[in-house]
Amino acid sequence: MKAIEIRNKYLNFFKNNGHSIIPSAPLIPENDPSVLFTTAGMQPLVPYLLGEKHPSGTRLTDYQKCVRTNDIDEVGDNRHLTYFEMLGNWSLGDYFKEESIKMSFDFLTKELQIPVEKLSVTVFAGDEDCPRDNLAAECWKKAGIPEGHIYYYGKDDNWWIAGEEGPCGPDTEMYYDTGKTPCGPNCQPNCDCGKYVEIWNNVFMEYFKSKDGKYTKLSQQNVDTGLGLERMAMLLQGKETPFDTEIFKPIMDKLLELEKVDIIESRRIIAEHLRSSMMIISDGGRPSNVDRGYVLRRLIRRMVRHLNKLQIDLQEIANLIDINIDNLKEMYPELTKNREIIKSVIIEEKNKFVKTLTHGEKEFQKEMNNTKQQGKNIIDGKVVFKLYDTYGFPPEVTKELAEENNMEVDMKKFEELFKEHQEKSRVGSEQKFKGGLAEQNEITISYHTATHLLNAALKVVVGPDVHQKGSNITTERMRFDFSCDHKLTDEEKKQVEDLVNDWIKQGLDVTIEEMKKEDAIKSGAECMFIEKYPDIVTVYSIGNVSKELCGGPHVKNTRELGTFKIKKEEASSAGVRRIKAILEK
Ligand code: ALA
Repeated sequence: MKAIEIRNKYLNFFKNNGHSIIPSAPLIPENDPSVLFTTAGMQPLVPYLLGEKHPSGTRLTDYQKCVRTNDIDEVGDNRHLTYFEMLGNWSLGDYFKEESIKMSFDFLTKELQIPVEKLSVTVFAGDEDCPRDNLAAECWKKAGIPEGHIYYYGKDDNWWIAGEEGPCGPDTEMYYDTGKTPCGPNCQPNCDCGKYVEIWNNVFMEYFKSKDGKYTKLSQQNVDTGLGLERMAMLLQGKETPFDTEIFKPIMDKLLELEKVDIIESRRIIAEHLRSSMMIISDGGRPSNVDRGYVLRRLIRRMVRHLNKLQIDLQEIANLIDINIDNLKEMYPELTKNREIIKSVIIEEKNKFVKTLTHGEKEFQKEMNNTKQQGKNIIDGKVVFKLYDTYGFPPEVTKELAEENNMEVDMKKFEELFKEHQEKSRVGSEQKFKGGLAEQNEITISYHTATHLLNAALKVVVGPDVHQKGSNITTERMRFDFSCDHKLTDEEKKQVEDLVNDWIKQGLDVTIEEMKKEDAIKSGAECMFIEKYPDIVTVYSIGNVSKELCGGPHVKNTRELGTFKIKKEEASSAGVRRIKAILEK
């Protein structure tokens, strides 16, 4: 059965069971800066799982485009995909375990016609937070799963939550027995030898886990399920990997035809990363050095490296994109509409990377010859670092090139230098980002804190799209540039001024934390030039009104600031306004 047929069967089955079919949310979550990509069907539904009313009712079903990036480096084996499609059905305080299990069983055995003996299920074994799920096990037995095919596991296997905090609960997972010989007498569904493949997960979401690790009951009992489409297609078609299904077949065949060197892992990596990149771009993603953009950049660049490995002409990329779109357009009609933009983004990124590689490779040759002339066989970590730092040449490429020339590289030394460099740039950027504080004294420090309050107030009054574009501070005044498409009205100016003064009067504490850059961004901290910051950053918070990546220094409490007054508001450049303001003590 083709993937699209499985999808259609799924949606129709749940529709016939009273579910409304809802559209896939975009891969790039709307209004949720805390995650890079949509990673599960439940993610766009969190408010409804927590009790908000969904306009389409209490029974929903959809196919959801997902990207999981935790194992990019594993793509190339026979299982991992970065982009995948999740089929899901939800009960928002409607049916619970019995009906959910019955529907899953019927769908698998009747619609997909999987023989019962090929199925095993796992249920939650119980612990101090939640009792053993005897009900789920009973429901499986009643549906037709023999007792010997029911397994009980703890939180590691049979509990589901997206991240650290949120709606969660015990789950029951369905496994397909591929018929392979067990790896040993203890081979069970939770063993990853490949005999059992997880096909579906039904989460009985009735708890909320807070950041401090406490579980409380939700206001309603939900069901959240997820079935990986590519994996199901692979199993139903009796294929060994998703790359052997019709989803990837045309592109895999074309790569085989074009390649001059035969490496199956590289073909898989190219096929996977091309599809993932196309889906991300089609949903609005663009390559950059941060966050989502950086994931996309890595995917495209890794694909290019493997095309090079197979000695496939990079001019073929446009053609490969066309083949993929033509193959996938029935599943994802948006790809046809976005064909040109997908091509131009991928090709432009490829061109940038090729430049980097060309420069770096020349330098690598020189360095390698030097090493050889010195009678050595190991390329110094300093060289790897220089290639990385000066030419943006990825260290793994240096390693590969060295290996191709029967040389080794001192990666340990590279890692050391890399850490040292990060530390230096951390200190450096803290210096640089003192916000133009040439002179540091009590007055300029107060102004610096006031810029943070102004930034926060503008977001409240004008809108969340306001971002700092620059600032300059003297002992006489502060100047603050920000993105905004209109001249502020008198009322807006007054509201901003009042809000800042209100916060000053509240006597808010200014606190400082050190954290990983990605965690800072996830926590919603504001930042002007994200790519310029090192991996570990300092974050300044003012009460709970402002949070920014910043090198400081700041006052300890807003009470120290005096009275804030806007003196002037004017245009700075296209789409950027400038405020000049003073603090009167
Ligand atoms: N949210 C569950 C999962 O992703 C269904 O496995």
